[in-house]
Amino acid sequence: MPTPVTRWMKRALPHSLFGRSLLIIVMPLILVQVISTYVFYDRHWFTMTKRLAGGVAGDIGLVIDQRAALGNDQAWQRTFYTVQVDTELVVYFRKAEILPNRPEEDLFGSLDDIFRDALRERVRRPFQVDWPTTEERDITVHVQLADGVLNAVVPRQRLYSSTTYIFILWMVGSSLLLFAVAAGFMRNQVRPIRRLAQAADSFGKGRDLPDFHLSGATEVRRAGAAFIEMRERIRRHVQQRTDMLSGVSHDLRTPLTRMKLQLAMLGPSPEVDDLRTDVTEMERMIEGYLAFARGEGGETPVPTELKDLLDEVVATAGREGVPVDLEIREPIKLPLKPQAFRRAISNLVANAGKFGKRVWITATRRGDVVEILVDDDGPGIPAEQREEVFRPFFRLEGSRNPETGGVGLGLTIARDVFRGHGGDMTLDDSPRGGLRACVRLPA
Ligand SMILES: Nc1ncnc2c1ncn2[C@@H]1O[C@H](COP(=O)(O)OP(=O)(O)OP(=O)(O)O)[C@@H](O)[C@H]1O
Ligand SMILES: [Mg+2]
Repeated sequence: MPTPVTRWMKRALPHSLFGRSLLIIVMPLILVQVISTYVFYDRHWFTMTKRLAGGVAGDIGLVIDQRAALGNDQAWQRTFYTVQVDTELVVYFRKAEILPNRPEEDLFGSLDDIFRDALRERVRRPFQVDWPTTEERDITVHVQLADGVLNAVVPRQRLYSSTTYIFILWMVGSSLLLFAVAAGFMRNQVRPIRRLAQAADSFGKGRDLPDFHLSGATEVRRAGAAFIEMRERIRRHVQQRTDMLSGVSHDLRTPLTRMKLQLAMLGPSPEVDDLRTDVTEMERMIEGYLAFARGEGGETPVPTELKDLLDEVVATAGREGVPVDLEIREPIKLPLKPQAFRRAISNLVANAGKFGKRVWITATRRGDVVEILVDDDGPGIPAEQREEVFRPFFRLEGSRNPETGGVGLGLTIARDVFRGHGGDMTLDDSPRGGLRACVRLPA
């Protein structure tokens, strides 16, 4: 039972094997980073900053205490100089000044808090801190003394620990590197699977992938080997069936011809006439079988311009007195078994011409599907019989009407050929009034 969460996950997570395996690598990587960053900030950064702030605050406190101990101004000047050399703090004193009354702003988050705490603890006098607004500038601390204000300019590096950035840089950098290496390896693992899928797909469409070879991990190789074996078995099976069909049909022709000769020598009588009709019928059926068997023969697909092939079919039909309108706007090139495909389309056109007066062929490409429609203005086929007419030797009229005489293999062969190309065909109502045969092929 899919819950909304699992449904969302199915939709949001990557669908390809490559994407999924990358996710499997990336998820723990990110988790580790988050955890270590958290631990780092919580422990290392906090402790470091506290110590640094304590050091600076202690230095300022020391200067203030020294001043109180020295008492005279000359000694002061020297002290300021020594302080600057030894602690990097620039200290100066503004006599008789009073700190302006300024509300404490809480701008800089935890570093600010830590520094203020340290100052409060070590300086023990009213103070104000000026945080620089730009990156390069230093921090200024103002401390209110009894006779004026002491300013201390603190260089940034005395408060900020630069290892923070280096740590994060290393972490992100190394995981990016790891990710790139993993992506490269993964791609190589997925490629053979993709190739196998392609090979299976083109075999299903009746095309061959001559450069398919076994590669990749053991399991993928096994699947590939199983696929090749299956492909051979199917080929052998089809070949066997075709050979048998054409063999039987061929062998039956000889006795049939003999029977026809013997019938010709018999005198005219109703029984002989019936026999003759039956023999003719059998002959036609055998011809049909042979045509069917040929349709499955070992023809290999070649890239064919659909318009040229359809033009030929239309020309042939025209010679037999069937007017055909062909509409094909763009050039469509497809891998086709030309003979089988021409026969299949001709069967549809022949049906349309036999049952209707005019025939329309339309070919269009729709995305990765090529659609060929054969319409006529004949009586059509009732919806409930549109599946049955594909059965071998099934004919609608019931009677063996010599006028529309056929064996009932035309549609069977046609659909077989289209399926052999990885496509299919269906029957429908035509807007022209008769039947619409709709052929769909993978482009
Ligand atoms: N365009 C069509 N309009 C109406 N009925 C059709 C049409 N095409 C086929 N049919 C019906 O479907 C049946 C089967 O067609 P199919 O092409 O398989 O055999 P056939 O035309 O009778 O013989 P053949 O083997 O010579 O083609 C036909 O006998 C006919 O009844
Ligand atoms: Mg037919």
